Amino acid sequence: MYINFWYPICTTEALNEKNPQRVELLGVRLVTFRDDAGAAHVLSDTCIHRGGSLGKGKVIDNCVQCPYHGWQFNGEGKCTNIPSMGDKNPPGRAKVDSYPVQEKYGIIFAFLGDLPETERPPLHLVEEYEEDGWQFSGPLVFELDAYYERSIENGLDPVHNEFVHPAQGAPRLNEDQLTIETLEWGGKFIAKFGELTDPESHDAVVKRPDDDDNLSAGSWHTGPNAMVTAIHIPGNNSFIQYFYEAPVSKTKTRIFFVNERNNNLDPKLDDSMNASFLKVADEDIAIIDELWPKRTPDTLTKELMTPGDAAVVKYREFLKQWEGNGWRINMTKMAENEGDIAYAIPCPARRTEKNWVLDTVPLIPAQ
Ligand code: FES
Ligand SMILES: [Fe+2]
Repeated sequence: MYINFWYPICTTEALNEKNPQRVELLGVRLVTFRDDAGAAHVLSDTCIHRGGSLGKGKVIDNCVQCPYHGWQFNGEGKCTNIPSMGDKNPPGRAKVDSYPVQEKYGIIFAFLGDLPETERPPLHLVEEYEEDGWQFSGPLVFELDAYYERSIENGLDPVHNEFVHPAQGAPRLNEDQLTIETLEWGGKFIAKFGELTDPESHDAVVKRPDDDDNLSAGSWHTGPNAMVTAIHIPGNNSFIQYFYEAPVSKTKTRIFFVNERNNNLDPKLDDSMNASFLKVADEDIAIIDELWPKRTPDTLTKELMTPGDAAVVKYREFLKQWEGNGWRINMTKMAENEGDIAYAIPCPARRTEKNWVLDTVPLIPAQ
């Protein structure tokens, strides 16, 4: 898991109540709440007084109030009121990490890291959003008993469709029809659809007509946890599917999914469309949950890759690069201290202010 990227925290809908929400992500606890103006905030959940969970408290005066002794923290993470101290100002150390937030597509995203704004990787945008001729649906939220990198790699794998999604005609990928590109914050593949096969025998049974040259599927990612799959099927019908993945822990992932389609534009069809997307997702989840080891091996030699895995290999190269930046969380060390140390993801203010109570998550040193 990596700091310094945008992560989905919860849906807009989940934060429409007055109460704050506690969310686990990257192995730490976060709290999200709205102020009176409706702006969403994301803070470290651990109250720096004596460890209360802010997410189990209340929102009062634009602040989240700890349920234990009533300390109040504003959207910037500063403690504004310590009831037992009366009129005295809270000490300077009375603050928790606060993270940059963007609310888009019905999802609250937080930048979990300490990079200043000019250096941050971007949030992966939905390019078709509110464009004419496109219908948006989502967000759908579902969970996997799997590590998020296995899930992203599944999206970057054009070869599994023939076997995992036979109802789609079991298209066989021709590996020499695969194009790989390198983008600034991730890799991309485009695969032309090959022959359709018989879902039982996997014999090639249907040749694509020659004029179907534009039929393709492709996926690309931004950072370790955001991915889009663009599927172009006959009749100029396209489905663009965005997956924002929240690595909850070493064995659990929460996915926020939104879809754009240029066909069947009636919003009344959203539910049936979403149901069909979830059916396909279930086919993937059944496989990903069973992968072993749960997390990908640290070297490429412990799995046998072929050209069809090129986008997966590129993804792992990007991960190594971000590890080299010093952004990878040392999960082993975190697990050793589970229950003994409350860690916080470092927020941007840590670059300019001293005097923080919580330790930051242990990171693999930069190279
Ligand atoms: S633990 Fe939060 S106010 Fe005491
Ligand atoms: Fe799949």
